[in-house]
Amino acid sequence: MSITGSKQKQIAVLTGGGDAPGLNAVIRGLVITAKKLGYDVLGILDGWKGLIDSKHCGFMDLDQVEYIHMTGGTILHTSRTNPYKIENGPEIVKKTLKELNCDYLVAIGGDDTLGVANKLFKEGVNVIGVPKTIDNDLSETDYCFGFNTAISRASEAIENLHTTAKSHHRVIFVEIMGRHAGWMALEAGMSGGASYILLPEEPFDIKDIIKVIDNRWKKGKRYAVIAVSEGAIPKKGTMALQAKEKDSFGNVRLGGIAELLAKEIEEKTGKECRHVVLGHLQRAGRPTVFDRVLGTRLGVHAARMIDNHEFGKMAALKATDIVSIPLEKAVGKLKQVPKERYEEAKIFFETGDNDE
Ligand code: F6P
Repeated sequence: MSITGSKQKQIAVLTGGGDAPGLNAVIRGLVITAKKLGYDVLGILDGWKGLIDSKHCGFMDLDQVEYIHMTGGTILHTSRTNPYKIENGPEIVKKTLKELNCDYLVAIGGDDTLGVANKLFKEGVNVIGVPKTIDNDLSETDYCFGFNTAISRASEAIENLHTTAKSHHRVIFVEIMGRHAGWMALEAGMSGGASYILLPEEPFDIKDIIKVIDNRWKKGKRYAVIAVSEGAIPKKGTMALQAKEKDSFGNVRLGGIAELLAKEIEEKTGKECRHVVLGHLQRAGRPTVFDRVLGTRLGVHAARMIDNHEFGKMAALKATDIVSIPLEKAVGKLKQVPKERYEEAKIFFETGDNDE
């Protein structure tokens, strides 16, 4: 059964992977611009799962998207379903698009979602991508929307934890999302005045953390707040970690490193330690101004890309411009924190070496 909107040209849109503040801004930017260009936009529900199960919310009108750029989450809902892990998944996706009368598809998501979009493009689907991840680890775009909101939340948490850590003479480990890239821990840690920052890119030695803690005690500060990326790993053989479960894209579910560190450092130093896991609080709720504007601009560009038939590409931020980049160039390449950025952050760690 095919469905038809008020216009001849129909775009399907979906959001995949973890939600990020700014997704609704992209949807609004896309719907309003597409309407002006003569398209109807059909909202697919639950990410790629919606194109397998044929679940949609109908054609979106202007009332439906009014003011949604100020809201968190995604009005289209999301999932971590990978059609390439489902029997005949890609064929079902193509069949569903045909049945829904949608010649065009906009996939908003991270590396997993955009990887699927790239494969579908090679199989003939007129798809364009919009990069999204609070982790900010996607290549070929300077910033992803959602990241600014997430680091603002994490920075505020780190900043606030100073007063309680100081009052009790405690070390507080703050676990920050970010999987295999430490952008969030780095920037939130720098902004929130963390005493030490641990990133997945730089395996840590517990002795270095203890050195900073001891030094702060020697100086009479007698507290520390330490930013720990959830993907932070110890140098080989220095600490035991547990095996973790995986999702359908093979991503490991992380978490627990701050708790382990708090236990081990309390044992080794005798200083009272606590841990806080910020988790989904980082990506929940209203987007910052930066993410609202970036999301909106990407949505506008996505509609124009469809109109210009720039398929197989994604909208991306380069300096202050929104540009179109081939998906092939962007997917499968993790953008991690370069050494120089960590060196800058390390200047503020009080190791006792020339930091009086
Ligand atoms: O990729 C975004 C992200 O928030 C990561 O920072 C985090 O590791 C992961 O998603 C959490 O996934 P879930 O929401 O499935 O628990």
